[in-house]
Amino acid sequence: SKWKNLLEKLSAIEDLEEEEIAEILDAQDPELEKELFQLADQKRKEYVGDEVHLRGLIEFSNFCRKNCLYCGLRKDNKTLKRFRMSPEEIFSVAERAHRLGIQTIVLQSGEDLHYDAKTLAELIWKIKKLGVAVTLSVGEWEEEEYIIWREAGADRFLLKQETFDRELFSKLHPDDDFDQRLRCQQKLMEIGFQTGSGNIVGLPWQTTKHLAHDIKMFQKMDFDMIGIGPFIPHPSTPLGQHHTDTQLKLKLTLKTVALTRILTKNAHIPATTALGTLVAGGRELALRCGANVLMPNLTPLAYRSSYEIYPGKICIQENWGACIPCMKKMVEKMGRKVATNPGHSLKNRSRVHS
Ligand code: SAM
Ligand code: SF4
Ligand code: FES
Repeated sequence: SKWKNLLEKLSAIEDLEEEEIAEILDAQDPELEKELFQLADQKRKEYVGDEVHLRGLIEFSNFCRKNCLYCGLRKDNKTLKRFRMSPEEIFSVAERAHRLGIQTIVLQSGEDLHYDAKTLAELIWKIKKLGVAVTLSVGEWEEEEYIIWREAGADRFLLKQETFDRELFSKLHPDDDFDQRLRCQQKLMEIGFQTGSGNIVGLPWQTTKHLAHDIKMFQKMDFDMIGIGPFIPHPSTPLGQHHTDTQLKLKLTLKTVALTRILTKNAHIPATTALGTLVAGGRELALRCGANVLMPNLTPLAYRSSYEIYPGKICIQENWGACIPCMKKMVEKMGRKVATNPGHSLKNRSRVHS
């Protein structure tokens, strides 16, 4: 086929030029997609194996000081009922999750100034004593704060760049500076966090050139984890009316996952909740083209629907904890297995993994 050379190059050297990546993203050729996804699945098996890691997600506050144009938690969304959990409540959820076999607790929130560095550090310390890995996803803070949390025992930090195109970034982030956010990710790596970046696929003004650049940056910066999710417009945000073709966005997201797997080799890549929200079975598709991580929602049911980053979010009407057996079933049905280890980074760095 027309794509034979590019696919052979991908397979052999696990690298492509940015222009070649954009060519693949632009192509709407079912044959190419099939071969690309198969190759990504093969590389996934080779580099990270058949294990799927479950990261238990606790969304502990939906207060946010920022106004990212795409996000339902943005400060100016006055229609959202705001909540925050106390440290005691967060700890008790982490404890219950641990008893169900969860080995990584992800603490995620808007950028909420209510919790100071010390409060969060004490909580991290307590949760670490359970014997689980702790991941933070709480946005941009000073280096001092990142250091305090790392010293309290936090293992990982998720801070997506969202887009590596400077201009697009500034259009979407009235409060943020492109370089500042990138520096945060570099600092997190230096401090010794296993660091996750990632992007949103299908944003307004975003081109396949932008996405190709994102993928090259994932490769260059050698992140431990990369989260790739489709943009889902939220009606109470400035981008609420920006609807695009679902199938196109699905294909573009899956191709981004597949190419990221091949170029980054052994990064941990989640099959995102956003992809499962975009289409039924979306996470399963991602697991078949490079992804190796799932994130069961463990937020207490009373708050779950209020953590409305985007509308229609899946897993909000289940029983607390229901995602865990549901995901185990999903993984086993695909002939894969749920990991029985905390699934630390596979990148070869001189970091202390606790
Ligand atoms: N406040 C922290 C931050 O921004 O890094 C963590 C929480 S934030 C809600 C987590 C992620 O949600 C962001 O990194 C962004 O990629 C994603 N997100 C926000 N709005 C979205 C939307 N409308 N569609 C898809 N993903 C979205
Ligand atoms: Fe706040 Fe994060 Fe949403 Fe931006 S993406 S508005 S920082 S919660
Ligand atoms: Fe959440 Fe199935 S994964 S209920």
